[in-house]
Amino acid sequence: MVSKSKVTYFCQECGHESLKWFGRCPGCNSWNSLVEELKVDNKKSWLGQQKSTGLPQKLTEISFSEEERIDTGIPEFNRVLGGGLVPGALIMLAGDPGIGKSTLTLQTANLVKTSGTVLYVTGEESPQQIKMRAQRLEVANSNLLILAETNLEIIEEQIKKIQPTFMIIDSVQTIYMPQITSAPGSVSQLRECTAKLMELIKNQGIPTILVGHVTKEGAVAGPRVLEHMVDTVLYFEGERHYQYRVLRGLKNRFGSTNELGIFEMTDRGLKEVENPSQAFLAERPTDGSGSIVVACMEGTRSLLVELQALVSPTVFGQPRRMTSGTDYNRVNMIMAVLEKRIGLCLGSYDAYVNIAGGLKIQEPALDLGIALALASSFKNKVINKDIIVLGEVGLTGEVRAVNHLEKRLSEASKLGFKRGIIPYGNLKAQQSYPIKVSGVKTVQEALELALEG
Ligand code: TYD
Ligand code: MG
Repeated sequence: MVSKSKVTYFCQECGHESLKWFGRCPGCNSWNSLVEELKVDNKKSWLGQQKSTGLPQKLTEISFSEEERIDTGIPEFNRVLGGGLVPGALIMLAGDPGIGKSTLTLQTANLVKTSGTVLYVTGEESPQQIKMRAQRLEVANSNLLILAETNLEIIEEQIKKIQPTFMIIDSVQTIYMPQITSAPGSVSQLRECTAKLMELIKNQGIPTILVGHVTKEGAVAGPRVLEHMVDTVLYFEGERHYQYRVLRGLKNRFGSTNELGIFEMTDRGLKEVENPSQAFLAERPTDGSGSIVVACMEGTRSLLVELQALVSPTVFGQPRRMTSGTDYNRVNMIMAVLEKRIGLCLGSYDAYVNIAGGLKIQEPALDLGIALALASSFKNKVINKDIIVLGEVGLTGEVRAVNHLEKRLSEASKLGFKRGIIPYGNLKAQQSYPIKVSGVKTVQEALELALEG
């Protein structure tokens, strides 16, 4: 056991070290920047078994084989991880409370393709509560052990004894190191616990999912430093009242970060959505103004989503603008373009823009869709339901080319769309497209095409 005297306080701003806590750092005078930290004399390497020799090596001579990844048993999850779990990887799964993190991790614990023991450490729920959920999810993995514990020392002992091949810690905000006096969930505890876990699992090669809650501002509660320490940061998001959930990578040392996993919350846990475009368009009205379908790219696949806009006269005072699922500033910019370049007088109108299904998408290719949806609602003219649009809008009202045109159009064709309004810059001579396309150079041209007749 480490004695109390090994605890010191460090300033997060300037690194000033002190034996006592101060409200204001004596080094740099910033307020509330001192956090408690364990002072470890022989800092161990996180590189695990591969101890550093202290000598540089030629890159060409370093031996490496593509790591054995463990299949999570959930293809959408594997996709976001970059192909599965890498041994020794520490994965942070962050999300709002109640979004489904515990559900996803329990389902993974059930389905993961390892022959060894799976250890689920819970600091939030009792084993009985987990059992209840497990019954609902039909969990039948006899190699799954549940440990209800928050003291990291005891967790460590158990890890060494059980030698699990996959582990889940739910959640990082509840575990604590007894040597540190501050409460679980505080900056010092989060940091030290994560560092300790990192060392443990790297040495034993156990892939581990660390569940973390996020604050109102959307960051993982606690310092950003947690995001730097772990190998992978995944966000599980969605509107609580919609059934869809999106798993998104923010950082991944073992794969790309722009893959999405799409799930649906059912009464029997999370189900993968096989055909997301179809699911997101299922409830689309066919005769309302202000609705249009855009083909976005999320990672390597194209996703069709419905964009809706509502423009209505402002009754009192300042016009309101609200967006859900898209970038607020981008919508404002597009409204300014419509006003200045097209002459739509939106100044005394409220505007609401929404992506149906509770999805969040930020991609420039959405711009033209936003512009057309707003104009369609403003003029109260319905856009033909067989049309999809894509294109980035510039400040002069020009429509700019987008990437991955073929993938977007082939997804549209699969779902029965007949016509695409696309950037002129994307058109290539002698190329055949899966649907009929019209290239436009400006928002004005796109408007004329979409709202004609
Ligand atoms: P949970 O996994 O406990 O969320 P988190 O760990 O992120 O806080 O999920 C909680 C919500 O999910 C809860 O509101 C109930 C809902 N839910 C279902 O709709 N179906 C299910 O099968 C399960 C297990 C949960
Ligand atoms: Mg939970």
